[in-house]
Amino acid sequence: MALITGAANGQGAAEARLFAAEGAAVVVTDIDDANGAEVVAGIEQAGGRAAYLHHDVGSEPDWTAAIALAQERFGGLNVLVNNAGIVPRSTIDETALGAWQRALDINLTGPMLGMKLAAPVIRDSGGGSIVNVSSAAGLTAHYDAAYTASKWGLRGLSKTASVEYAPWGIRVNSIHPGQIEGTALFANASPALAQSLRASIPMERAGTPSECAELVLFLACDSASFITGAEIAIDGGYSAGSTTFMRQQMKKQMSTG
Ligand SMILES: NC(=O)c1ccc[n+]([C@@H]2O[C@H](COP(=O)([O-])OP(=O)(O)OC[C@H]3O[C@@H](n4cnc5c(N)ncnc54)[C@H](O)[C@@H]3O)[C@@H](O)[C@H]2O)c1
Repeated sequence: MALITGAANGQGAAEARLFAAEGAAVVVTDIDDANGAEVVAGIEQAGGRAAYLHHDVGSEPDWTAAIALAQERFGGLNVLVNNAGIVPRSTIDETALGAWQRALDINLTGPMLGMKLAAPVIRDSGGGSIVNVSSAAGLTAHYDAAYTASKWGLRGLSKTASVEYAPWGIRVNSIHPGQIEGTALFANASPALAQSLRASIPMERAGTPSECAELVLFLACDSASFITGAEIAIDGGYSAGSTTFMRQQMKKQMSTG
């Protein structure tokens, strides 16, 4: 039994479909009700088990309702994927206090509330796994101030949770996607921006939601039985350091004196 937030679109939807295909019952939650219902309908048509609930991750009553749905409909909860997130896109200079607080509410307070309320239920369901979707922006400096702060916060919170919940039989890990296809940033990128996005990744391509879903599935299941408190980049080498392009340019310049 798994609960995945922000699962109406993108990575969350890919995770919901993959988990259901592997036999898990999935509570799909989001604030985008139309797409959330469509994800559940698709899973059910394919023979899987899923339920949708409107759930704003910044709301504690919404969390209580989502966890209750997992218990009532599917008899418990073993996996929580804190996937929902927003990208305010502003530098420190441009950041309004309200936008800062909204980003922290959704990207950081939401996962904290989810872990606080879900962990006792996961423990009482026999243990399991929590996967927190941070970002490469939680490993590096990123231009977006509130996003970066929230994703670094989620990385730290995941480590605290891994220690706190280990005695309850719950593993907690964070994943750190780099640029992933299918997002508005990619869809709306100018040719110059698209080229510079690709040039910043050693593998010179964006990742896909299904590649992220495979990592989340691995961390959620027993194949990852001794992995907790880990932070795993899934970014084509972006956070590892200099790019292939930069290395080639440096080599060329050094060889010409
Ligand atoms: N796409 C990328 O390049 C990328 C890179 C690094 C990290 N991430 C992270 O991956 C996660 C998934 O993002 P995605 O790329 O699939 O983007 P997405 O925009 O396709 O999906 C995010 C989902 O979260 C939902 N959501 C927004 N606010 C919510 C709220 N208050 N409560 C519940 N749901 C809410 C949206 O409706 C949407 O369905 C996010 O946490 C994001 O920060 C994405």
